[in-house]
Amino acid sequence: MLKNTRILVTGGAGYIGSHTLRLLGEKGADILVVDNLSSGYREFITYGELKKVDIGNLSAMKETLSSFRPRIVIHFAAFIQAEESVRNPMKYYLNNLSKTIMLLQAMQEAGVELFIFSSSAAVYGLTDTVPIPEGAPFRPANPYGRSKAAVETVLQDLSNAGAIRFVSLRYFNASGASIDARLGERHRPETHLIPLLLKTAKGELPSFTIYGDDYPTPDGTCIRDYIHVLDLAEAHVLAAEYLLSGADSAVFNCGYGRGYSVREVVDVVKKVTGVDFPVNIGPRRPGDPPVLIADPARIKQTLGWKPRYDDLEFIVKTAWEWERKESSQ
Ligand code: UFG
Repeated sequence: MLKNTRILVTGGAGYIGSHTLRLLGEKGADILVVDNLSSGYREFITYGELKKVDIGNLSAMKETLSSFRPRIVIHFAAFIQAEESVRNPMKYYLNNLSKTIMLLQAMQEAGVELFIFSSSAAVYGLTDTVPIPEGAPFRPANPYGRSKAAVETVLQDLSNAGAIRFVSLRYFNASGASIDARLGERHRPETHLIPLLLKTAKGELPSFTIYGDDYPTPDGTCIRDYIHVLDLAEAHVLAAEYLLSGADSAVFNCGYGRGYSVREVVDVVKKVTGVDFPVNIGPRRPGDPPVLIADPARIKQTLGWKPRYDDLEFIVKTAWEWERKESSQ
């Protein structure tokens, strides 16, 4: 269904965007990537042309949309660090909220109606529901999560008014790398759990610090639902096909429905790499919710999504291959 379908991908040079782009390209989609390369990498773009434009540039985006005439916009471009958003909320509201609204305005003026949004489990934040269904109320623990929740509200209103149809994918913790280690996670600075553990195993960092062991969880460390980036990429393909089939706007969790504590992830990384390294306990990181585990029933039922890589050891193995390749360059 995606063959020759024109799709505009913002943030296609980033981590999740680049894996999705590759899958869309393999399916024969006709892709244009819009990325300002503020945190993306040109070499991550395996299909389609790159247009180096900021999504907040209304006239450039209108021109780009009018000339490419995509059926769908998939919108990855965003800042992603919850802790940074606590220190610098304006950065998040400007980029993640204002510029998304500008993008939607440019789409409206160019007559593009279908939209796939990179939302986040961070919208649930301090929820006490485990696992979390999509109907759970928004209780974001930081401005990052609030910026994503605000966009979802805007999308729902635009959809109610008949201006767009959208799918919002609420990602839990994206992790792992492509199986051939061609693509992977490269954030500068790196703040995510698995890449930091692997850099410690590699000897690039002297030790690893767990951010708090006094959470109300069995071992006191935070619990997350780690989803392989390729399963996440597949969710976008299914969401695009869903919208193209004429279906109504919808919101889907993207996670496996089971969680691992930080300590459990540390143990898996030590096992996969065969390296023991020092682990310290530090204070809590501001903005971290204690437990985020998806209820993935809706995406399975509605989109027929079937997880293929629901295995933390496999996730860490692919990330380890990627990390080793990164250091050999
Ligand atoms: N952690 C540590 N030490 C570190 C780094 C992380 O203990 O050096 C802990 C964190 O405190 C957290 C867990 O590991 O409990 C996972 O942290 P990450 O930074 O890898 O991921 P987050 O859960 O904070 O956030 C990620 C994405 C968000 C997304 C969220 C959804 O960065 O964009 O998952 O769950 F919204």
